[in-house]
Amino acid sequence: MAQPLTLILIDSNFDSRGNTKGALDQFNHIKVLGDYDNLVAGYEASVREKPGIVFIDLTENEDLGIETIEKIISKNKTCVIFVTSEIVDTNLVLRSMRAGAREFLTKPVTIEDLSVALKKARNFIETGEGDSLGQIISVFSNKGGIGKTTIATNLALKLTEITNKRVCLVDLNLQIGDITTFLDISPSFDIAYICAHISRIDESFLLSSLEKYKNKDLYVLADPPNVEQAEEISADDIASILGMLREIFAYVVVDTSSGFDIKTLTCLDMSDHIMLASIVSLTAIRNCQRCLELFQRLEYNPEKVKLIINRYSQDDEISVEDVEEALDRKVYWTFPNSYFTVVSSINKGIPISQIARDSPIDNSFTELAAKLSETEVYINKSGGEEEEEEEGFLAPIMNSIKSLKLFNK
Ligand SMILES: Nc1ncnc2c1ncn2[C@@H]1O[C@H](COP(=O)(O)OP(=O)(O)OP(=O)(O)O)[C@@H](O)[C@H]1O
Ligand SMILES: [Mg+2]
Repeated sequence: MAQPLTLILIDSNFDSRGNTKGALDQFNHIKVLGDYDNLVAGYEASVREKPGIVFIDLTENEDLGIETIEKIISKNKTCVIFVTSEIVDTNLVLRSMRAGAREFLTKPVTIEDLSVALKKARNFIETGEGDSLGQIISVFSNKGGIGKTTIATNLALKLTEITNKRVCLVDLNLQIGDITTFLDISPSFDIAYICAHISRIDESFLLSSLEKYKNKDLYVLADPPNVEQAEEISADDIASILGMLREIFAYVVVDTSSGFDIKTLTCLDMSDHIMLASIVSLTAIRNCQRCLELFQRLEYNPEKVKLIINRYSQDDEISVEDVEEALDRKVYWTFPNSYFTVVSSINKGIPISQIARDSPIDNSFTELAAKLSETEVYINKSGGEEEEEEEGFLAPIMNSIKSLKLFNK
């Protein structure tokens, strides 16, 4: 026989606490470990007793309630949090979900709502799904052209190659996404389609709507075909989609746009890792500084923000140490400047690992993916030549020449 689900109830309102308790009493296999009239006592009991489910009422104090959800989840990752409230507004639902709540129940809580929510909770607890929530890795820079799409695309593919797990690559550059070009694919469905059917979203719907990349376990959620459709996508849609994707995929890698709009911020809020990309130029470093300041104001955990230097060459005037000193922060990763390999990969629509396996830039992606996923890998260092130094100078010119040749074909 199934173990009873253990539960703690936190609600400052005596009557509604009694109502919810009364409703819960009607279910078999539910064991209420305690009910509390304040968030602090309820939090302490939740940490001490480690219940499977915690009901938190947010009607009285939304901010402290949200903080309590975060704290409980950080101590007990598999705990299922149900939020209750008399006030229902989208912002509060969104904040609760971002904090880690699984369900939002409007008061008075009905038997029907409880029944659905408890079924989901049991499924979540018994399948151990909570242990395997995927990680969201966002690649961000508030400056364009730094290499976000290059990093996101190749990192996503590398993660699936070395972990053998399912990875989803999301193009949140909603106005002018590049991922389909980088991978030379024409998906049948895109993020606007998913948003239009958001109420139907479940695992099979998502998997059948995403574009599977060749024979790999890489799935792509493409940007919408036109600007109007991009505008219709809301921050709530983004939160729902990312929440769903992380339940299905081991890693969700997101290529973001360069601004701090609400959709990008929603994604950054929900991310486990923000790969803050820069190059070693004064303007890029200054922009990075601004991002770090904002992330600090948003109270992001410093561990979550990982500084990535792209296109780095040992001969650059500004060294990694200079960057670390200027930003007062360790550089998490550096990608070598591999202009010809990267441009050739983009122009051909073939990822780096398939066009230049074991080259320095490919190895760098392997090592980064291994570090993030804590996977052992063998690195073949004999596989590719370092590129000529002049490529940095020639880069823009070569790029234009190659593009012209392509278009004149
Ligand atoms: N490691 C690298 N070495 C050399 N060149 C690189 C490297 N990474 C990216 N590039 C070059 O930088 C250019 C911009 O890359 P990418 O399109 O990935 O940047 P982005 O940040 O996504 O740009 P956008 O802001 O337009 O979306 C590409 O043309 C690519 O050739
Ligand atoms: Mg891009």
